[in-house]
Amino acid sequence: MKGIILAGGLGTRLYPTTQVVNKHLLPIYNKPMIYYPLSTLMLMDIKEILIICNREDLEIYRNLFWDGSKLGITISYIIQEKPKGLAEGLTLAKDFVKGDEVCLILGDNIFFGHALPDLLTQTRQELEKDGGAIVFAYWVNDPEKYGVIVLDEKENVLSLKEKPKYPKSNWAITGLYFYDSKAGGIAQNIRPSNRGELEITSVNKAYLKRGKLKVKLLGRGFAWFDAGTHDNFLEVSDFIATIERKTGLLIGCIEEIAYRKRWMNKDQLMKLAHPLKKTSYGTYLLKIAEGKER
Ligand code: G1P
Repeated sequence: MKGIILAGGLGTRLYPTTQVVNKHLLPIYNKPMIYYPLSTLMLMDIKEILIICNREDLEIYRNLFWDGSKLGITISYIIQEKPKGLAEGLTLAKDFVKGDEVCLILGDNIFFGHALPDLLTQTRQELEKDGGAIVFAYWVNDPEKYGVIVLDEKENVLSLKEKPKYPKSNWAITGLYFYDSKAGGIAQNIRPSNRGELEITSVNKAYLKRGKLKVKLLGRGFAWFDAGTHDNFLEVSDFIATIERKTGLLIGCIEEIAYRKRWMNKDQLMKLAHPLKKTSYGTYLLKIAEGKER
């Protein structure tokens, strides 16, 4: 399975902050936002990752992650010339995906939970075995802001609607999607919605029509954030800060994940951490390398 991070867009709701800096490069507490979705993919052992970004941000992302080899993974990049909608990402990524399964994550979606790595790994395996599409839903009190999913009592999907005025349920669809190799072809054939966007919900609806859409519910033990507004930034940053201060352990630390997964060895981690040793991030990485954190 390959991974795609959607990191383009205009971030108009965050203006003027996003006037010259792309939303996914802005900090969520102490790291660039994109570290969090990247770590979500890494936690389920996805090592071939494509970042879809705006032309003017390509060099910045390259400077940040290079080709991924420092983390023991491969990161490649594709430019989205105009933001036409999330589903366009699947079409743009066709050559990268090359008939493989794919996990698509929105660059502003942040997931947290002790059980997350296991759940993600199981979902990946399930999708690789059965095909189709799998999405995640999270209970929210403002469902009209999201894609909303309606389920029967056995948790089968009945319907989906993008930002409904009168939501029929409180289950928001999160920005983490698992697809079989048909997704690119499906995305190519969808039409823009009333608001003129190629909606990812239209792709999911096509899978539902074929009887191939499954949903997994993220219960109370999980946290999910979509960081699209200034208030969301504060809210998520506060959440991350609270947990990191309390435990002393970082969330979304991509170097730590790569090291714990043995995609890099102690010397490589030390080499990455050394130039940063005067920063709290560097000190943390050195502690990890020295085995001083659990
Ligand atoms: C997008 C999707 C929506 C989903 C949300 C999750 O909305 O279109 O279905 O619920 O991401 O973050 P956007 O944040 O682009 O408005």
